[in-house]
Amino acid sequence: TFVVTDNCIKCKYTDCVEVCPVDCFYEGPNFLVIHPDECIDCALCEPECPATAIFAEDELPENQQNFLELNAELADVWPNITEKKDSLPDAEEWDGVPDKLEHLER
Ligand code: SF4
Ligand code: F3S
Repeated sequence: TFVVTDNCIKCKYTDCVEVCPVDCFYEGPNFLVIHPDECIDCALCEPECPATAIFAEDELPENQQNFLELNAELADVWPNITEKKDSLPDAEEWDGVPDKLEHLER
């Protein structure tokens, strides 16, 4: 599976959702996740993210390992998203800020 990681938080550009052939992105207030049971590992979304927040599971940086479980958990409760929308208003300011998990809204 592919995994959405920390740098998506408070940016949520949503470019990723439009290219997914199986529509397996799920949306929270300030973060998106990929459903690990639905992702077919096509890799199309990875280069679409302006924040470089999407990684293949086996290429997850060491400090992002916790996002694997978080994607699985939240994909079960958040609604599906398939169309791009405006990014969050302060997306550019938050892009690249490390350790945004404390700002995650559920
Ligand atoms: Fe969707 Fe492909 Fe990205 Fe998986 S790797 S989330 S199937 S676009
Ligand atoms: Fe997030 Fe990147 Fe998609 S910022 S919403 S993973 S395009």
